[in-house]
Amino acid sequence: MTSLDRKTRGRTSHQRLQALDAYLAHSERGLLTRGDGAWARAAFVDLGFGEHPWTTLESARAFRELNPGLPVVGVELEPPRVESAREHADALTDFRQGGFELPLRPGESVRLIRAMNLLRGYRPEEVPAIHQTLGGALLEGGLLVEGSTDTPGAVLVAHLLRRVPEGISREALLFHTDFSRGFAPVLFRDWMPRDFRRRVKPGEPIHAFFADWTAAWQEVREAGHVEPPEAFRHSVLRLAVRIEGLVTDAWLLEHGYLLWKPPGGVFR
Ligand SMILES: C[S@@+](CC[C@H](N)C(=O)[O-])C[C@H]1O[C@@H](n2cnc3c(N)ncnc32)[C@H](O)[C@@H]1O
Repeated sequence: MTSLDRKTRGRTSHQRLQALDAYLAHSERGLLTRGDGAWARAAFVDLGFGEHPWTTLESARAFRELNPGLPVVGVELEPPRVESAREHADALTDFRQGGFELPLRPGESVRLIRAMNLLRGYRPEEVPAIHQTLGGALLEGGLLVEGSTDTPGAVLVAHLLRRVPEGISREALLFHTDFSRGFAPVLFRDWMPRDFRRRVKPGEPIHAFFADWTAAWQEVREAGHVEPPEAFRHSVLRLAVRIEGLVTDAWLLEHGYLLWKPPGGVFR
């Protein structure tokens, strides 16, 4: 354990991260399939898979539809969770005990790190160092996904952080809902990544983002778009007129994803 790692409860559920898998398969196909040089054997690392390795195995299945030879490494701080996950290990799938300093073996490289529902027990001030430590394990161009969901995975918000020559870039924020809980922008507030979790309050840039989105949502409802998927899609299109960096790809909007790539990166 490093000074940053901390024991946390291991609750998880089947399909919790399925929407994130679908997003990555849609929008990061190049990252998942790249095969030149060190990328040929570059792994997907699922950090903090929990008391069961369900989400790791589900993602392995989803990503291997694009890249059948993809190595997958599930990492957990708690040795008993690693022990019981090992019954699912195979030639391409490994489970290892470790923390933010990833337990990589000589010659191994990493294309994608997922750290979902992990940082609730950590302090917001610790998050930048955690992002830096994890990002340091990625190949240049690799991606770190860190964020939160509710228990079934119906609501998700995640940072997308890219390894660039200068370090790690706060490239985008990803929001997703499957609409099973209806839709209003405030739905996401309690599932913000750790560093934004308690900052949706006046004076904070993330509060301004929510205020703009809520205004856009109210306007489209008044215009008659009241069904959650429709209200979501139109609210994002309207928000895109107000703020820079919203990605209005039709597939994203139809499937409940808001992807925001502010010019210059996501503020701290
Ligand atoms: C709530 S579970 C989340 C499981 C799964 N990722 C999900 O989203 O359903 C969080 C897990 O992260 C593990 N964890 C917390 N800090 C960690 C660290 N620094 N390194 C590795 N695992 C960690 C905990 O032991 C716990 O099992």
